Amino acid sequence: ADPDPLQDFCLANLNATSSVNGFPCKPVSAVTSEDFFFNGLSVEGNTSNVFDAAVTSANVFSFPGLNTQGMSMNRVDFATGGLNAPHSHPRSSEIGVVIKGKLLVGFVTTDNVFHSKVLTVGQMFVIPRGLVHFQRNVGKGKALAFTAFNSHFPGAVVLPTALFASTPPLPNEVLTKAFQVEDQVVNSIRSKFGA
Ligand code: GLV
Ligand code: MN
Repeated sequence: ADPDPLQDFCLANLNATSSVNGFPCKPVSAVTSEDFFFNGLSVEGNTSNVFDAAVTSANVFSFPGLNTQGMSMNRVDFATGGLNAPHSHPRSSEIGVVIKGKLLVGFVTTDNVFHSKVLTVGQMFVIPRGLVHFQRNVGKGKALAFTAFNSHFPGAVVLPTALFASTPPLPNEVLTKAFQVEDQVVNSIRSKFGA
């Protein structure tokens, strides 16, 4: 979903003072072979959090060689019972493969139709661009998936934190009306995210 590149590569200069749609390129003379390789997805993520899951991103920020290439990847680690909470990627479709364990993968269409399936090692899924989706570890031990995106920075709107852990907080009257609950329910959910 990203625009096409206009040159072979454009090694992101993440520290540039000017702001553009993407990042300006490092001078070609400053580019090295190392710029095109990344080992950040070789390391297991820390799943000690409320969701018992961890997303590690190889996007233009962590891997500047991806700048303008229109693609990126994540590794998603799950402890037992872990959940990659419902979220959407505003700029990208997503494709994924299960590497370890057993995952319930699901998404909801703009007509509120829920599609889901339990996947085991080697099996794949696709999440259409922008739709709300999740993965839940339904196996006995840890689980691991790798995902890929047609954007160098897909972005993620994580629904629980977007709605209940924003800065500043959304007004209670918005959340109580949206979810048809009392203030105490909203406050209780917020408190789980340290907000
Ligand atoms: C999984 O949904 C991911 O965004 O990596
Ligand atoms: Mn996703």
